[in-house]
Amino acid sequence: MAMKISSLSLKNFRNYKSLSLSFDPNINSLCGSNAQGKTNLIEAIFFACIGKSFRTSKEKQMIRWGEESAKIALVAGNGIREKKIEVVLQTGQKKMVKMDGLVIRRIGDVLGEVPIVFFSPDELKLVKDAPEERRRFMNIDISQTNKRYFYLLSRYDKILENRNKLLKTTKDFEVLKETVVIWDKALAAAGLKIIEEREKFITAISPYAEKAHEYISGGEKLKLEYKKPEVKTEEEYLKKLSRNLEKDFKFGYTTFGPHRDDIDIYLNGEEVKAFGSQGQQRTAALSLKLAELEIIKNQTGEYPVLILDDVFSELDATRRKRLIKFTSRCQTFVTTTDEELCEGNLIRIKDGKAD
Ligand SMILES: Nc1ncnc2c1ncn2[C@@H]1O[C@H](COP(=O)(O)OP(=O)(O)OP(=O)(O)O)[C@@H](O)[C@H]1O
Ligand SMILES: [Mg+2]
Repeated sequence: MAMKISSLSLKNFRNYKSLSLSFDPNINSLCGSNAQGKTNLIEAIFFACIGKSFRTSKEKQMIRWGEESAKIALVAGNGIREKKIEVVLQTGQKKMVKMDGLVIRRIGDVLGEVPIVFFSPDELKLVKDAPEERRRFMNIDISQTNKRYFYLLSRYDKILENRNKLLKTTKDFEVLKETVVIWDKALAAAGLKIIEEREKFITAISPYAEKAHEYISGGEKLKLEYKKPEVKTEEEYLKKLSRNLEKDFKFGYTTFGPHRDDIDIYLNGEEVKAFGSQGQQRTAALSLKLAELEIIKNQTGEYPVLILDDVFSELDATRRKRLIKFTSRCQTFVTTTDEELCEGNLIRIKDGKAD
């Protein structure tokens, strides 16, 4: 089964005054020159499904300039059940979200109703940038289908913050040795569980990401390696913390734990961050996202909607074709400036209008 968005209507959202569109269950190509509203339309879909924007935390910015309110209405379904999500933004008021006509109070309740996987050029950070981006990727992805992990993370962060505070404020090492133990046990317990979940996650996505990359690139071997802290039991974890205590005292923060984790990404045995070409890096980042489709499918029983903003730049014609072929199991939205690259249902976007 797959989740599919059947229609979208917008009122005063970004540069759209009024828009009403129905979509193809397979491929929808949003095509138009720069600055016409392609990403705006994607943002509207994302906002309705996720409850926030990928561009801004100042949500009122999405109201069309000079207007008081914006509205998004989206209908999606999996062939069995249809869902209607409505979002209203109004200056001076809290945003209002409705699901099948009923007002939703907690935004978390919308999350997962219409699952989507989103890829934009920004996602290149996943392979190119600092470890933090890859930790974020793991955290968001695991949280999407595992709320316990989400709470576990915030618990770990709180304990870590307290421990670091103690490391910074204690002047005497001998005193620290005695006081720090109040945090260490809790830190080790939460830390171990995070490591466990991440390991499970990487093991689960690896074969899918490898398969996607191999297919799109025509044979390149992708390999993900979770760089995890080498501890298996709480006892080992505590030992590691106490062995590092002198170092932690010197630096004023905790140097060991999953908050320093990373994923190493290799292509044909070379680290992609250092040696990959632009197209290879993009393909690798994309493959990680495509693996997400399968993970969500395994957990929920249906494929999410795939949204690809500006994915084609830097991919050669063969990779582009293979990408589209690879994603045929789910409904896909692709934006591009080049009409020749459009497949499926062509939606031309010009100055906040579509035809
Ligand atoms: N709140 C708003 N009200 C009216 N217009 C807006 C608002 N916010 C953004 N815009 C306009 O929307 C235009 C189109 O933005 P969008 O990012 O969708 O373009 P795009 O078609 O994706 O272009 P590109 O190919 O360059 O990515 C921007 O140039 C901006 O001026
Ligand atoms: Mg754009």
